[in-house]
Amino acid sequence: MITLTDVSYAYPDAERFVLEHVHLEVERATIAGIVGASGAGKTTLAKIISGFIPNVDGGELSGRVEVDGDDLVGVALSEAVARVGLVIQNPFNQISGARYSVREEIAFGLENLGTPRDEMAERVARVAELLRITQLLDRSPYALSGGQQQLVAIASMIVLRTPVIVMDEPTSQLDPAGTRMVFEVLSRLRDAGITVVILEHKLELLCEHADRLHVIADGRVAASGSPTEILADPRMVAWGVGSTRYTQAGRRARDRGLLPEGAPLPVSFDEAATVFSGGAR
Ligand SMILES: Nc1ncnc2c1ncn2[C@@H]1O[C@H](COP(=O)(O)OP(=O)(O)OP(=O)(O)O)[C@@H](O)[C@H]1O
Ligand SMILES: [Mg+2]
Repeated sequence: MITLTDVSYAYPDAERFVLEHVHLEVERATIAGIVGASGAGKTTLAKIISGFIPNVDGGELSGRVEVDGDDLVGVALSEAVARVGLVIQNPFNQISGARYSVREEIAFGLENLGTPRDEMAERVARVAELLRITQLLDRSPYALSGGQQQLVAIASMIVLRTPVIVMDEPTSQLDPAGTRMVFEVLSRLRDAGITVVILEHKLELLCEHADRLHVIADGRVAASGSPTEILADPRMVAWGVGSTRYTQAGRRARDRGLLPEGAPLPVSFDEAATVFSGGAR
């Protein structure tokens, strides 16, 4: 479980706090989706949950950041990374640059932990199969497309089997099929007991896979709830997050008098199908 209590943070030399008095709870073995406009502070939050702030970025952090009951503030990065894996926003920056093949790249973290060679090989093979990149294992990490690099970055993190995984826009370089596969992998990790925090703009997939959504706006967690509750919230536009195409179609239909005023708006395909065929949500 992840609990943030009254967390405030300012980058070094910054004039204002990026996040102020943030409260956030993520239950163990669930997928939490974090949404927010560009610049809202999602990446900053991801770095706080994974100990990169303040260890790497410095700055001024206050409040409590607890992962499975232990306060992460003040803990060394080497200890934090054993608990929380972070897949950073740009996959190119995650590639270590120290290894010649994708296989070695994925094994890099395990090697640092002193994992026995047999176990390492087996875990790399398994994660590659899970993400369908087995055919890339002997390639150079630099001879890959952006999407392939993103899958390698995700594999390098999943292979470590940390109890918590934080993914900062892990599907930004992927096509729809690759994106869907990553979400399915996240659901499997959740079912295996891992706590997943995903920062994403793809609302429809979040709606399908996340257990809860949290909106970052104005330096705070402006709202938390089930995906259905959050995606139908009329404040989503003001928060700069937008809405799914189903909600947009519902809103337009309501404005034209095709749906009753005050009718709940659909957020998913199934709900849209129900609403537009005349049923209530
Ligand atoms: N290293 C830094 N030093 C100073 N300010 C920073 C630093 N990194 C980010 N910021 C500022 O903090 C704010 C939040 O940035 P952050 O990257 O967390 O937003 P985000 O929600 O992840 O945005 P995006 O959707 O574009 O990835 C922005 O105003 C940004 O300019
Ligand atoms: Mg970001």
